[in-house]
Order: sequence, then structure tokens, then C-alpha cells
Amino acid sequence: MKRFTMKLAALLTVVCMLTACKEETKPTETPAAVTETPSVTEEVTPEVTATPTPTGSKHGAEWDEKTLKDRYADSFKFGVALPSSTFRNEIHMKVVKEQFNSFTFENEMKPDALLNRDATQKGYPDTNTEPVLNFAGIKKGLDFAKENGFGVRGHTLCWYSQTPKWFFTVDYQSGSPLCSREVMLARLESYIKQVMTFCQEEYPGVIYAWDVVNEAVDIRTGDANGVRKEKNNWYETIGPDFINYAFLYARKYSDGTAGLYYNDYGCEGKKQDIVRILAPVKEAGNIDGIGMQCHLSTGDNMRNAVYRTAKFFTEAGYKVQITELDIGTSLKGERADLIQAMKYKALFQLVEEADKNGEIDIDSVTVWGLHDTASWRSGENPLLFRIVGTITKKEAWYGAMQVPDIAAME
Ligand code: GLA
Repeated sequence: MKRFTMKLAALLTVVCMLTACKEETKPTETPAAVTETPSVTEEVTPEVTATPTPTGSKHGAEWDEKTLKDRYADSFKFGVALPSSTFRNEIHMKVVKEQFNSFTFENEMKPDALLNRDATQKGYPDTNTEPVLNFAGIKKGLDFAKENGFGVRGHTLCWYSQTPKWFFTVDYQSGSPLCSREVMLARLESYIKQVMTFCQEEYPGVIYAWDVVNEAVDIRTGDANGVRKEKNNWYETIGPDFINYAFLYARKYSDGTAGLYYNDYGCEGKKQDIVRILAPVKEAGNIDGIGMQCHLSTGDNMRNAVYRTAKFFTEAGYKVQITELDIGTSLKGERADLIQAMKYKALFQLVEEADKNGEIDIDSVTVWGLHDTASWRSGENPLLFRIVGTITKKEAWYGAMQVPDIAAME
């Protein structure tokens, strides 16, 4: 073991020298903004049916029994994004139960999944300001959460993407003109009211955070204040204050058991804009925190992208959650695994320490997917597990656990 550790350390030093500088000067644009389509669903890789057995890893057998949720129990919940198909996969659910204590529906709680198009269209004009929703797709997951003591992040109530065009038109037909501000405010209020009320009444206490508004800041193509305009029907119909109204309604219908969050990608580059745009929402007392998606790459600097940004939000009076963590890499093979693990280690070290000493106020970290094949960035292998016959821990998992024989690389 000792010989292996020394070899590993030597390899890491060389690898760092060869790659770290080059990579860190190559920040990647977060791809979240460009995806409109739901990410790939999982279960595409055939798997052996045996229950995963401990690997007796090179880091020592003692790590086989440890779990992410226990490792960070004193600091934050450890969550994972799951498509509904995972709830039917016993092998994967065993890992989910062991490792995590929170989840986010990958797509099933988004407006395009909850809005019932047929019933809403058929009911018009009675449904004009009361769209019909269908909660069938989230019941299994919420039942699982209730039975197994998981918390759920409610993702997401108001988003420019994955919200169908027909929802914004006068008679709910895709080709019809867009509605007035007044009607869209009423639809927004009804939608938020129905989703929150269903969850609060049927699954009290299960949702602990709502992403009330997702990705409303776009400093490249947004309006003068930085609010996203492009392809944004909320902006088109209501105007930039759709953000304020979404939070107003969320506060109005909240039973107080869940925090209200603004969620976005690329927070390092737009943190000032986010805080400026949210100032009136904060002033009105309608927001609790900011969700930093953290779709990162091994070329990103973890101190800047995560620690400094989270500290900035904490100092501005917001709680922080890391809501969609993945660290993609364009490197290949063992080298990719090691660098990625070192980045995960740095991130968790920084966040845990800053949480412990009160520099950041964070109570939840969620990875955006269970394993690489299920990731929306599967080409960049960004997650903590991969399928090798069956679901298997990557070096990244050990990095996230902060094992001593992986060095941190900020
Ligand atoms: C954004 C959204 C997520 C997800 C990812 C891509 O980050 O907030 O819900 O759609 O894009 O998968």
C-alpha cells in the first residue's frame, strides 16, 4: 500500500505539472444555458444483476463502508439528481439509499412535465388562469423520499426553458398570440400555488428547498440590468419583474417548511448581477438563498468558482446550496480520473472548511446525476460513479470523500 501511495503521489506531481496550469487558464462556459432538451435518460448500459460488492479499493478497505451522506452529515445534506427510471432500478436505488439523503428530480418536476396540455386546452376558457397539472410523474419519487427520510429539492417553478410555448398563448394553442401580462401573472400564480400546495399537503416536510426561479440572469444577451430576454416567454409576457412575482407567489403559498432559492449556472461570473437583480426580492423578504448549479470542468479553479462565490453570496445575506454539481473533463483515462478526483477533493475541502468556520452558510450539495452514463454531459464523465459491469465508485468519489492519498488541486 505504501509503495502504491508513493507511486501515486509521484504520478500526481508529474500530472499536475504537465496539466494544471494549462487547464486552469481554460475556463469553460457552462453548457446549461444551451440545452433545451431534457438530458439522456439512464439505464442504457446493460448491467450485471448482482448487488455491487465492496471493491477493496486501492485507498484501503475501510472506504468501502463509508458514505457521502455520513461523511458530510455535520455540514450539509448530500443529494443526487435522479430521472424517474432510477426509482425502478434496485441496484442503483441501493446505492442512492446508502450514499445520499436528498434528491432532485432531473426533469419530472419541471413545468413541461407537470403541465397537462390536453386538459388545460380542453378546459379553456375556464382554465384561462387555472392551468391543469398532473402530478403522477413525481408521486413515486416523493413516496420514496417520505418512506426513506430523504429531503427533496423542488426544481423548478419558473424557468425560461422546459416550459412549453403553448402555456404562454391566449388559448393555450402553440400558434396563438402571447397572453397579456395580467393573464400570465395569474397563470404563474396558479401554477406556483398548485405545485406547492400539492407537495405541502401530500408530502409535508419532504421538499426542503424550492428553486423558485431558474437561470434568469444572462449578462451577455440580457437586458440592461442583466435579466435574460432571449427565448424567455416570461420576460416577453410579464417583463423583467417576473422574477419578483414568482418569489412573491412562492412566499405567499409556502407553509414555511422549505427555503426559497434562486438557482443559476456560471455564478462566479455573474454574482454581482444576481445580487443586484434579486435586491428587491430580498428587500421584500421573499427569498432565502441562492443555488449555485456548479456545472464545472477540471479547468475551473475551485476556490474562485465555488468558495469565493459562495462566500460572496453569504456575505450578501443569502444561504447557499450547491444544486447541480458535476466536474467534466476532456482528459482521458487514468489521468482524467486523478485530476477530476483532485478537483472534487479541493471543492469539498474548501466548502466543508468554510461551512465549519462560518464563512459560508450552506446546507445542501447535490451532484447532477448518479453515474457518468446517466449524465447530460456523459462525454465529459463528470460524476462520482460509473458503470463498469455494475455501478462503481470512481476516483472522483474518493476525492469527494477527501481520502488522504489524493491531493487536492484547486
Ligand atoms: C440546467 C437545469 C437543470 C438541467 C441542466 C441540464 O442546469 O437547471 O435542470 O436541465 O440544465 O441537464
